[in-house]
Formats: sequence, structure tokens, C-alpha cells
Amino acid sequence: MASTYARITGTGSALPERVMTNFDLEKFVETSDEWIHTRTGIRQRHVAAEGETTGDLAFLAAERALAAAGVQASELDLIVLGTTTPDLIFPSTACLVQARLGANGCAAFDVNAACSGFVYALGVADKFIRSGQTKKALVIGAETLTRMIDWKERETCVLFGDGAGAVVLEASDEPGIYATCMHADGGYKELLWNPVGVSAGFRDEPNHGVCIKMAGREVFKVAVKTLDSLVEQTLQAAGMQASQLDWLIPHQANLRIIEATAKRLDMSMDQVIVTVDKHANTSSGSVPLALDYAVRSGKVQRGQNLLLEAFGGGFTWASALLRY
Ligand code: COA
Repeated sequence: MASTYARITGTGSALPERVMTNFDLEKFVETSDEWIHTRTGIRQRHVAAEGETTGDLAFLAAERALAAAGVQASELDLIVLGTTTPDLIFPSTACLVQARLGANGCAAFDVNAACSGFVYALGVADKFIRSGQTKKALVIGAETLTRMIDWKERETCVLFGDGAGAVVLEASDEPGIYATCMHADGGYKELLWNPVGVSAGFRDEPNHGVCIKMAGREVFKVAVKTLDSLVEQTLQAAGMQASQLDWLIPHQANLRIIEATAKRLDMSMDQVIVTVDKHANTSSGSVPLALDYAVRSGKVQRGQNLLLEAFGGGFTWASALLRY
């Protein structure tokens, strides 16, 4: 019997309308376009309007992915949504999106793996499809990270943005996702976190209760090292050589981290999709936004091999190697 693969049949994305450039940031925090761009590659980010939620962006991205795949929402068996900024504590944002799409009845849940959320969600959906339980899945990565930024803290506020991306995955005899890897090490929790919550309690100091805290330099070092071994492991799991890869579609946190991974794979930067300049770090939104950009701009073509990878708070790290 032929094996069942999960194939991406459509992609979509959504960004808030408002763009905030590094020059805009200079006006209210002690920073500069030069500092931000040299350290991170970021030029601008999109910021959600008041009242605009993760679910709103996720819904738009999902509609576009479904249209691209030619799939009706009612055909979906599964929705998995990666986010660390859900609209509500519950129901999950996946459930909220499901209802708006009219996909009521299928399984729907969120995955919180911080910036690795979308790649984790993709790995989970891949397993559902390979098991035969699911034929058509919608996988979303969506965030409104600027909701938990302290705009006075220059170490973090310059790094993040809002956005969403989505893919439709369908069962197919043709590849498809070859391999996915998922890892976490909660021992690193305090290097990148938001230390409040329902059970631990919310603090009420203005602007300090629900903000991202990060030890940037330490995160940088662990990210580079971890991604090095992750890409090796993924190639091995797929039985492939780096030379067989057409594109690297990395998490868009920092151009220097991306360049280090490309170098490790001996890939030229011409084979790397870079959107960090335009979107900054959109956490779970980052990889599917970059993928949709790559598809719609005609860079990524059917039949090409793509390596997706992400690293984030937890720490978590995850990858997927697939034929598009
Ligand atoms: N504008 C201007 N100066 C800033 C600044 C800003 N936005 N943020 C920090 N600085 C200052 C620091 O205060 C420090 O000043 P000092 O030397 O007087 O103490 C100086 O710049 C250098 O800071 P440092 O932390 O050494 O810079 P860096 O080269 O490590 O770059 C990051 C900082 C955050 C850009 C970098 O460490 C990074 O990208 N880390 C990974 C973060 C990440 O990707 N997180 C998400 C993972 S999913």
C-alpha cells in the first residue's frame, strides 16, 4: 500500500494594515534604525489596530489558504493553530476561527510553543494525516505579539510584530512532508518568557504585568547552536543531503541567526526566504508568512524541497522538511 503523505495544497497570510518603521520607533524610544537594522535585519513591523485580534488575522490567512487550495471550510477534518497570544483564555483561537469559517464539527485546538508554534502545529497535523484519521487539515500560525510589549523597553519592543499565515494540508500519495522534528527544553524558561498567567497570577503594575522578558544575547547563542543540530537531524530523518534543498524558510527573528543556519547548510542567501526586514519577529506567524510570501512571489515552485525551522520561548525548536 502506498504511504500517505501530508501535502501543502494552499497557503495564505494576513498582516495588520498599520506599519511601524524603525524611524517611527526612534520617536518614542531611545534607539535608531541603524542599531536595529545592523543587529537584527529589521526595518519595519506591522502592528494590529485596536480591537484587531490574533483570531482576525488567523481567519483572513485561513480564508486565503483555503481559496488557494480550492478547499471548502466544510471539508476540513482538523484545525491546528499555533499561537502564544490567543484572543481569549478559552475557547481556543482555533475554535473561534473554526466558527467564523463555518467548519463546525471538526477537531480544533491551539498549540502554544511560542515562536515554534506553527512548525509544531504542522508536525501535529502531519501525524494526524499520516495516521489516516485526517484528510484535510488547516494549520495556522497567528500572533498579536505587540499586545504584550512594553514600548518603553528598547531591548524587546524593536524586535516584534503582528501577523498570521496558514496552510491547507491534504492527504496524498505524493510527498509531501518527509520529516518533522519537535523539541523543547523548559529549563531555559527564564531566558525568553512572559511571566504571568491565569494560574501563576496577573500582576497589576501598569505596562509591566504582561510583557515579554528576554535575555537577548543568551537567546541568540542557544538559538544558533540548537538550529545547527536541528537542521542536521531533520536532513537525517528525511534521508537527504543539504545539497538537495531548494529553499530554507526559517523563523524570522534575526537575520544573523538566519545567516548562521544557511552557512551551516552551505546554502547561499539566495536560497533563503527573508521577510524579517518587513515583518520583524511575528512568532508563530513568521514561518507561514514567509512561506506564503515565497509562494505568491513565485520564488517557491511545485516540486521543490523546503526546510522550515523555528526556535522560540520554552525553549522550543522544530522543523519540517517537505516537497512543496
Ligand atoms: N537600540 C539601541 N541600543 C540598544 C537597543 C536598542 N533597541 N537594545 C539594546 N541596546 C543596547 C544595550 O543596552 C547595550 O548597551 P551597552 O553596551 O551600553 O550595555 C548594547 O545595545 C548592546 O546590547 P547587546 O545585547 O549586546 O546587543 P546584541 O548585539 O546582542 O543584540 C539583540 C541584541 C537582542 C538584537 C540580539 O541579542 C538578538 O537578536 N538576540 C536574539 C533575540 C531573539 O531572536 N529572540 C527571539 C527568539 S525566538
